[in-house]
Amino acid sequence: MGSPRVRVFVALGSNLGDRERTLAQARAQLAHLPDTELVGESGIYETAPLGGPEQGDYLNQVVELHTGLSPWELLAQLQQIERNCGRERLVRWGPRTLDLDILWYHGFSSSDPRLEVPHPRMEERRFVLEPLAELAPDLILPSGRTVGEALESVRGQEARRLRQGARAMCGGSMDSQKDLRLEQERPHVETQRLQEETQRLQEKIRELARQKGAIILAHNYQRPEVQEVADLVGDSLELSRQAAAAQARMIVFCGVHFMAETAAILAPESLVVIPEPEAGCTLADKVEVEELLALKARHPGALVVSYVNTTAAVKALSDICCTSANAAQVIASLPGDREIIFVPDRNLGAWAAKKAGRELVLWPGFCPTHELITLDDVKQARLCHPGAKLVVHPECRPEIAEAADAVKGTSGMLRYCREEEAAEFLIGTEVGMLARLRRELPHKRFYPVTQLAVCPFMKMTTLEKLLRALQEEQPVVRVEPVLRERALGAVQRMIEVGG
Ligand code: 13P
Repeated sequence: MGSPRVRVFVALGSNLGDRERTLAQARAQLAHLPDTELVGESGIYETAPLGGPEQGDYLNQVVELHTGLSPWELLAQLQQIERNCGRERLVRWGPRTLDLDILWYHGFSSSDPRLEVPHPRMEERRFVLEPLAELAPDLILPSGRTVGEALESVRGQEARRLRQGARAMCGGSMDSQKDLRLEQERPHVETQRLQEETQRLQEKIRELARQKGAIILAHNYQRPEVQEVADLVGDSLELSRQAAAAQARMIVFCGVHFMAETAAILAPESLVVIPEPEAGCTLADKVEVEELLALKARHPGALVVSYVNTTAAVKALSDICCTSANAAQVIASLPGDREIIFVPDRNLGAWAAKKAGRELVLWPGFCPTHELITLDDVKQARLCHPGAKLVVHPECRPEIAEAADAVKGTSGMLRYCREEEAAEFLIGTEVGMLARLRRELPHKRFYPVTQLAVCPFMKMTTLEKLLRALQEEQPVVRVEPVLRERALGAVQRMIEVGG
């Protein structure tokens, strides 16, 4: 098997020599790169140059590749193609036979001057956005806008789409023009087919859940199409409360494993099913029972507060659990003369300690998805959206929480954005949250602080897996009775505290 493929967009430009032929040559070579597939070509645009009078008009185009090459390997290959196509640079910013730029390499960003990705000026150029919008109108750019939205702000710039796209230009025959038309229609037909398939699956899931007396719970980070079929979409605390109150024959939990396990602790009479049992949580995996026992031994008499993102075995050793929605209240509710150990998230712990005015013994765990959000991302996002309020999750690094207008758990974010007068918000958490916010508050605008904050585990649950879990009533999440009994007290106390 080859390495996993990544979605990449490359811009092609030429304004010297036989421009059309050069672009065709470059596309042919792109299609033959190792471990790479050329999956989409935009039409070709003619654009007046941004430089001096020595420049002729450019032809511009964008192609989509799926590649197993690393960004640096791809860059080296593109430079080779430029040389193969006889690239000349007469003056800086001057005419060029061929210019290839990586606009976007999914999940990767770099400000190295030799490899600036995502391309730092792509949102300012119509000749980039217009062809890119043909291939990926909904791609979320570094500013948080989609390609389609960014395009609206540069429509004033001149860029003329030549009547025919790349394929017809190369072949020129009626047949190739027909091929081109089909090419251009295919994305719409494909989108429509996918939408119908999604709807069909959703209807089947709803019907089966009704027949089987099942409730579907989904966390705010789940894929939008999964959120749409759920009986309740919420944060960890709301979902736990619902699991405890539901009295359903079956609970299908669309989230990560510790959430389903918490539901199994709270609702022993229900069959708790998780569509994807491999959907774990790096945070929950960070605490070993032996290590916690050793820490407790070093702090005799200390109370243990465990974030709900822990295993049942750790909950069983805890005095009380908390979620991001009530961590500060939970800590404040504990007697002032007792030491407190907080596991496993050091960022949530530090933030809650500050709010509650208590000192905590912090476990050194963190959520890798939230730690991806940096102060540079925040500065960049604030520059792009100066009027927007910044709301971040308490699992973010302390300097991010410090810079924010509000620090909230996921459902707290929704309430804050609903109640605030502001029309624009920068969201510092897993990007799935934006789907919920956009669905519930369609008149407001939401931008991720970085689109890289994606929890791979939360995205493992699909409609297909959800349907299969309902049909087969498995995989079941069980907590062994003695362990359950010991963990229940801590979870129940968490539910009783407000938040
Ligand atoms: P919430 O409780 O805010 O939904 O957060 C859950 C979580 O796991 C955050 O990473």
